[in-house]
Amino acid sequence: MSSTPNQPLILLAPMEGVMDWRMRDLVTAYGGFDLCVSEFIRVVDQLLPHRTFERLCPELARGSQTHCGTPMRVQLLGQSPEHMAANALRAVSLGSPGIDLNFGCPAKTVNRHHGGAALLATPNLIHDIVRAVRDAVPAGHPVTAKMRLGCDDAALAVDNATAIAEAGASWLVVHGRTRAQGYRPPVDWEAIGRVADSVTLQVIANGDINSPDDYNRCRAISGCEDVMVGRGVLATPNLARVLRGHASPLPWSDITNALLRYADYDQAKKADHYLTGRLKQWLKNLVPHYPEAAQLFTLIRTERATAPVLDSIRSSAL
Ligand SMILES: Cc1cc2nc3c(=O)[nH]c(=O)nc-3n(C[C@H](O)[C@H](O)[C@H](O)COP(=O)(O)O)c2cc1C
Repeated sequence: MSSTPNQPLILLAPMEGVMDWRMRDLVTAYGGFDLCVSEFIRVVDQLLPHRTFERLCPELARGSQTHCGTPMRVQLLGQSPEHMAANALRAVSLGSPGIDLNFGCPAKTVNRHHGGAALLATPNLIHDIVRAVRDAVPAGHPVTAKMRLGCDDAALAVDNATAIAEAGASWLVVHGRTRAQGYRPPVDWEAIGRVADSVTLQVIANGDINSPDDYNRCRAISGCEDVMVGRGVLATPNLARVLRGHASPLPWSDITNALLRYADYDQAKKADHYLTGRLKQWLKNLVPHYPEAAQLFTLIRTERATAPVLDSIRSSAL
């Protein structure tokens, strides 16, 4: 872990379709993150080929670290203990220093197949998945989990956390919302605290920690020392250092540099619409925080080719 001993952990959240390896690389380079978790890898009923892991997590080939040395852990999502265990073992054999299990994804396609947050209705099955993965993976490799408070309400939150603890997980990240709440505010940091109070397992708080004020309030209200942050990083790429009081949010010129660096990662290999789509998606998240982002977004909104989008970003920095 990159932080000094006894310093609270700040983890970079998995965000499928947003926090890809390029973003993980770029964001962790600002410093302050102890660990990042991959976008979920969906397990159905087979052992996935090596290339699936390597494509989504190229860090595996570099000691499972981003270029600046922040560890990356593979996240799996699925409902079959047997297949989750087999794929966990494969991820570890490819270099993942541990396995994170997703019990929080609200996506309909995933939930229809009883994966992600849908599992929160069945603590016994959650227990069996964590136990199967724990048994499959060598002891030195932590198995961790991430859950929401529940499906429609938080009635089973403690049962699920207990199931995860008893099955041998090393820590549990709790996003303080139910599946039904989607991503709508407010997040319930108090409920995270109730879960944390009911288990001996280390609980990490997650949800709407976007500023030092949020960070302090979340930790005071939930009683959790450690946090995970996701969407806030899109607006404040150096959020971990900002939360630690070691930096201020970046000026706009640094943000434009970050957008251009993202485009640089593998511009030649990616279709124009992929790259421009990602840049627009990121820019949208910057709009509430930087007036320049709104102007730039209006300018490139309908543009599909990469070159003019990059030219507009460069001009915006001047
Ligand atoms: C676009 C998007 C994709 C996400 N993908 C994942 C995922 O792959 N695995 C996961 O455990 N959580 C996923 N999440 C949930 C986030 O990790 C996090 O729990 C949530 O955004 C709340 O934290 P935040 O307010 O700091 O963003 C995703 C969230 C978003 C917005």
